[in-house]
Amino acid sequence: MMAMAHPKLALRPFLPVDTALLREIFRDSIEALTDEDYTPAQQEAWASAADDEDALGKRLGSQLTLVATLEGSPAGFASLASGDKIDMLYVHPAAAGQGVGAMLIDALEKLAGGRGAALLAVDASDSARGFFEKRGYVAQQRNTISVGDEWLANTTLHKQLAAKREAS
Ligand code: ACO
Repeated sequence: MMAMAHPKLALRPFLPVDTALLREIFRDSIEALTDEDYTPAQQEAWASAADDEDALGKRLGSQLTLVATLEGSPAGFASLASGDKIDMLYVHPAAAGQGVGAMLIDALEKLAGGRGAALLAVDASDSARGFFEKRGYVAQQRNTISVGDEWLANTTLHKQLAAKREAS
């Protein structure tokens, strides 16, 4: 019998009513999980990007956004910005390390591949870079982006998606 990583873990599409909770996950995730790679001022500038709840709701609603739930409560989310670019991936610190991020990214890869994308790109934080490398993403370039009054480094990584369609 195949063991399930976490029997209470599930995925569903984003709903506008999730926005307030996802905003909290975004902020808590940055505060607790990125402090080894970014200064408090950088973390605050980054977390402030979601202060405008309406803008966050519009951003997530315009993308292909998945919500991971643990026993029914949102524990993380991920979004696909265009056909081949992962925009956001955030897991609540209390749920980190239980396969939530992996489940979200596996699902986005399948959806993007099913829509014909040959590769997926992501601008990963230094805190998430190891997660993506472990899943087969290869670093292409370092970036420095301006967020509020701060400059934050990240890395663009690419993953080739397996061709799904058989020649007929
Ligand atoms: N470095 C190396 N390996 C990692 C890392 C890491 N930083 N994080 C997780 N892993 C490994 C785990 O050990 C696990 O390995 P296993 O399969 O052998 O057990 C595997 O990756 C899967 O880990 P999950 O438990 O699925 O990861 P989690 O649910 O904790 O989510 C995430 C990882 C999303 C990076 C989370 O730590 C997080 O939210 N971080 C802070 C926010 C952040 O930086 N988000 C990304 C911003 S960039 C962007 O949005 C595209």
